[in-house]
Formats: sequence, C-alpha cells, structure tokens
Amino acid sequence: MLHINYFKLPAKVIAAGGLALLFAGVAGASTDDADINDEIEARIHKIGTINIDGEAMQKPTLAAEAGPSDGPAIYQGKCAACHATGAAGAPKTGDKAGWADRIAKGEATLITNATNGIGAMPAKGGYADLSDADITAAVQHMIGESQ
Ligand code: HEC
Repeated sequence: MLHINYFKLPAKVIAAGGLALLFAGVAGASTDDADINDEIEARIHKIGTINIDGEAMQKPTLAAEAGPSDGPAIYQGKCAACHATGAAGAPKTGDKAGWADRIAKGEATLITNATNGIGAMPAKGGYADLSDADITAAVQHMIGESQ
C-alpha cells in the first residue's frame, strides 16, 4: 500500500504538473498563435491588397490590348506632345477653326493621313507599334474634341 501510495502521489503531482505545463503550454501556444495569426493576417492582407491593386492596374492594360482601343489614352500618350502644343505646326486639339478644314476632308482621310504621315507629322505620329484601331480611336478622340 505504501508503495502504491508512494507512487500514486508523485503520479498525481506529475499529472498535475503535467496538466499545469500543458495548460501553460496551451495558453502560451494560443498567445503565440494569436501573434502568429496577426502576423499572417497582416502579411496576407498586404499581399492581397497588392494583388488587388495590381489586378486593378493591369486590367485596363489587358483590356486595351485585347479590347477596343482607348482613344483618349493613346492621344495623351502618343499624340498630345504635338497636338496639345501645336509643335511642328500640328493642329491643336480643341482648336475648332484649325480643325474645320481638316474635319471637312472626312474622318477616313484624316485616319489615312495620320496612319501614313502628312507634312511634318511622321506615320502614326512616330509610333509604328500603334494598330489601325489605335490610330482610328485617337483620331476620333481628336475630332470629337475639336468640332
Ligand atoms: C511629331 C509631332 C506629331 C505627333 C506626335 C502627332 N502628330 Fe498628328 N500632326 C502633326 C502635324 C505637324 C500635323 C499637320 C500636318 C500637315 O497638315 O502639314 C498633324 C496632323 C494630324 C492630323 C490631320 C491630318 C489631315 O489630313 O489634316 C491628324 C488626324 C493627326 N495629326 C493625328 C495624329 C494622331 C492620331 C497622333 C498620335 C497617334 C498624332 N497625330 C501624333 C504632328 C504630329
């Protein structure tokens, strides 16, 4: 009996100690987990935000490549250097008097001349990579702003 009691006591102590350690461990682990979760959430949130922003920024680019040409964007990026300032004698966008005679030639002629070049304007304004649809959209935008 003494032996059994002797061994039972330490067993209880060990069990209690073990449980205490276990709870301490669980408590500690849960605290660590909470910290780790916060860290992970912060990381996931950042990555998610960047991805969402990245997609949001990429979508118009992809749409511009695959879908209809963005006339105003092409105009701003490729044509405005001359046509907003009148550089090299370019008719200024929005100058109705300056565009009246050109618009009278018809949209198709203006597109052809913008594509092939006219006077001091190089073919496609010097941007050979622009598609016919890009030039059409940019010219239509310029006409729309100038009549
Ligand atoms: C390097 C300067 C320059 C750039 C860049 C430029 N243009 Fe021009 N553009 C001119 C000049 C100069 C004229 C006038 C040419 C003339 O009639 O002698 C002109 C004329 C035009 C005309 C009138 C053509 C006609 O038949 O009267 C259109 C349309 C036009 N440009 C469209 C564009 C578009 C679209 C872009 C961009 C893709 C563009 N241009 C970029 C200089 C430029």
